[in-house]
Amino acid sequence: MSEKSFVMLKPDAVSRRLVGKILARFEEKGLQIVAVKLLQISKNLAEEHYGEHKDKPFFNSLIEYITSAPSLALVIKGDDVISVIRKIVGATNPKEADLGTIRGDFAMDMGRNIIHASDSLESAKREITLFFKENEVIDYDISDNLWIYE
Ligand SMILES: Nc1ncnc2c1ncn2[C@@H]1O[C@H](COP(=O)(O)OP(=O)(O)OP(=O)(O)O)[C@@H](O)[C@H]1O
Ligand SMILES: [Mg+2]
Repeated sequence: MSEKSFVMLKPDAVSRRLVGKILARFEEKGLQIVAVKLLQISKNLAEEHYGEHKDKPFFNSLIEYITSAPSLALVIKGDDVISVIRKIVGATNPKEADLGTIRGDFAMDMGRNIIHASDSLESAKREITLFFKENEVIDYDISDNLWIYE
């Protein structure tokens, strides 16, 4: 069943001009972008988004990093989207992430792992609502537009 996930290209992905390469991986896999927003995340929004980690030792540096420069927020739709995207993204620690995953190919540092993806449908709903208004998510059916390529 087609579901939605929240994905965010973190500041180093945008600063290193990797946006196109990363989005191509999701599109080529067959997933569909249904919302996009470039934004510099405020401290409040960052603390809310990563609220589950507020007692961890790395929390302050995580918030500092995520608010340091613009990020690209996305909603991506597809079948089994949570697990498919987490597979494409790779392990949290980029040094351990498999080659062929985004973190495995583009990152070296746990604190600079270039991308976030929701870990469950519940987190996805919460995160999408945090970053997007309802009318900013365009729930189109891609098959309606196939005529463009005929
Ligand atoms: N031990 C750690 N040291 C430093 N930073 C960490 C550590 N563990 C997690 N982080 C940072 O906090 C973020 C959130 O950690 P989480 O456990 O939710 O991993 P994740 O779900 O793979 O990543 P994300 O939520 O960003 O998609 C990680 O992406 C990473 O940048
Ligand atoms: Mg997480």
